[in-house]
Amino acid sequence: MHILHVVGARPNFMKAAPVLRALSSRAGVRQTLVHSGQHYDANMSDVFFEELGIPAPDVNLEVGSGSHAQQTAQIMARFEPVVLERKPDLVLVYGDVNSTVAAALVCAKLLVRIGHVEAGLRSFDYTMPEEINRIVTDRLSDLLFTPSTDGSENLIREGVDRARIHFVGNVMIDTLVRMLPAAQQRFSEDLPEHYALVTLHRPSNVDDLEWLSGMLHTLADIGQGIAVLFPVHPRTRQRLAHAGLDRLDGNTVRLMEPLPYIDFLALQTRATIVITDSGGIQEETTFLGIPCLTVRENTERPITISVGTNCLVGRNPERIRAGVADVLAGKWRKGSVPDLWDGHAAERIAAILTSD
Ligand code: UD1
Repeated sequence: MHILHVVGARPNFMKAAPVLRALSSRAGVRQTLVHSGQHYDANMSDVFFEELGIPAPDVNLEVGSGSHAQQTAQIMARFEPVVLERKPDLVLVYGDVNSTVAAALVCAKLLVRIGHVEAGLRSFDYTMPEEINRIVTDRLSDLLFTPSTDGSENLIREGVDRARIHFVGNVMIDTLVRMLPAAQQRFSEDLPEHYALVTLHRPSNVDDLEWLSGMLHTLADIGQGIAVLFPVHPRTRQRLAHAGLDRLDGNTVRLMEPLPYIDFLALQTRATIVITDSGGIQEETTFLGIPCLTVRENTERPITISVGTNCLVGRNPERIRAGVADVLAGKWRKGSVPDLWDGHAAERIAAILTSD
């Protein structure tokens, strides 16, 4: 059986790593890895391949950045000949980025079977590009691997045949579980004892310069009470530079370069609180039991709120400040770990793929 994996952006890498690994030990499985090149900076891509032990891609489509239409179309045009030439039996796509939907569209038209890892998540917010990517990818997929039961329920409600839905758990947590010992050993001398860890990269947040400027001031205020560490995504860095805000850090907000996986996980494990608009970080903080404030109006990962340690605070500075104050006062629920977030999701996927 020939399985071709498609990855492209930073959050894909930690999801594909355990699946590649689980399938490598299965007899009769041949694997091909295609990188779309959506993320291309060494600190957004190469460093994750190295740390997570992902084999070098067999093909890099080198699409780079562009508008949504340009990027998606470029991936499709460059991926189609690869599928025609390599003739996989199944293509696995991950998450909700443009590389995910582009690859799924190509395979659907070529009648190649598609498996979607992290299927069924819904924010019900159609202004998010990722929501469109999720819906289209799920609609086209033959095998839908869900990380949580809400994902399976969303798919059933949309009329997906139950036989195609497999609740396998969270592959991102597989990687976290494997890398946690290395992260726990990583210690930085100049790390404050208590700190808030911040990430912001959603276009709906960082492309709104007025909001971004207000948010930096909110973070600077929070920095009066607790150290603030902020590894900055390239999209956010560009917006900050454009608005002349990248030097506004003063002493209270430490703006940093994007971090490698283990360093960032190390920072999460020791954080007093995490403030983010990322999807994956809502899940990682839930697993680690670290309080998380999500700076969005909605989430496609509601289980991190109902079961975990996450709280939606919207784009509201008062609610962000209040959330930080609650955490510092020790008023935060402990949360628990969702079902099947146990480090073995990828093995379940491999077992399903090789069962027939
Ligand atoms: C993409 C995903 C988003 C995911 C995020 C994680 C889509 C629609 N969005 O958003 O869901 O949460 O990745 O990082 O697929 N850039 C660099 N170097 C790089 C990559 C990007 O400088 O290696 C800059 C470019 O100027 C680019 C911008 O960042 O225009 C945004 O990159 P892009 O891939 O379009 O989307 P992300 O914001 O990274």
